[in-house]
Amino acid sequence: MRISSQEELIAKKENKLRVWFTQGLSQIDSIIDGFDIGWGGTARWCTSHLARYLDPQKNITILDIACGYGTFLVQLGWRFPQAELIGLNLDFDPPHNLIVSLLSQSNIKAQLIIADALHIPFKTKFDCVTCFLGLQDITITRGQENLVNVVSELLRIVPPHGFLALLDNFPQDIFENILTQQKLEYDLVFNKSFKPHCKWSREIGLRAIEMYAQGYLQQELDSENPPVDSNVALTRIKKKMLNEFENQIDSQGYYNPWGTMHLFLLQRL
Ligand SMILES: C[S@@+](CC[C@H](N)C(=O)[O-])C[C@H]1O[C@@H](n2cnc3c(N)ncnc32)[C@H](O)[C@@H]1O
Repeated sequence: MRISSQEELIAKKENKLRVWFTQGLSQIDSIIDGFDIGWGGTARWCTSHLARYLDPQKNITILDIACGYGTFLVQLGWRFPQAELIGLNLDFDPPHNLIVSLLSQSNIKAQLIIADALHIPFKTKFDCVTCFLGLQDITITRGQENLVNVVSELLRIVPPHGFLALLDNFPQDIFENILTQQKLEYDLVFNKSFKPHCKWSREIGLRAIEMYAQGYLQQELDSENPPVDSNVALTRIKKKMLNEFENQIDSQGYYNPWGTMHLFLLQRL
């Protein structure tokens, strides 16, 4: 299939899934929640690069870490239709239980495993391990100090010649710092950045902050060091987001809460 028609096909599937995912929501909430389907083109951009290293026609095995409710897992399924997919998350309680209907709406089959990314219950066996916007949440539940250990754990389950794809939006130098501390050997085969298509107005941005702040608070409450006072924690989270929001509105006239995404693709030696 031509590359452009493959991209169009996946974009169409995204649109269809987004309509289902946001049914019944207000116009503003549909824009915010609908962004999770495709992440402003980031998911397609990421899988299109993975497909340069992994053959979409082969029966490969892909493990997606911190799969949440599976928005990236379905993109892996669309890009690699022959692959065996496994999604791993800390829990599949609400809202992560949405993954079951999201997979079924997308016609994608995947095995789901409840586990901590710090202690993955597998030996080496995957052609590719992915972690799409998961490291930032693992930082909340397991602390920034554990990021190096999490990435070591991900590299441990990738066999020689296998791949580890890390995509997140924290600064490039944090990634580089984590990677230089790894003991297992790898080649960095691809490293590029992508700006998601997200230019939200003040009205959408303020509503997004309300919604996202609740989600971040919940993760802090579920973490190993939960805040003592959830109201104080919520105010702190919102204040930080509002600062960033005002800076962006002033400097560029729109709000993009996701910043720039960085993809690091490693191949184990
Ligand atoms: C925002 S989601 C990432 C997006 C997701 N990959 C997708 O495709 O939609 C982050 C997930 O990380 C999970 N998580 C946080 N800490 C974790 C940990 N220590 N181990 C496994 N999953 C974790 C959270 O439960 C949450 O579902």
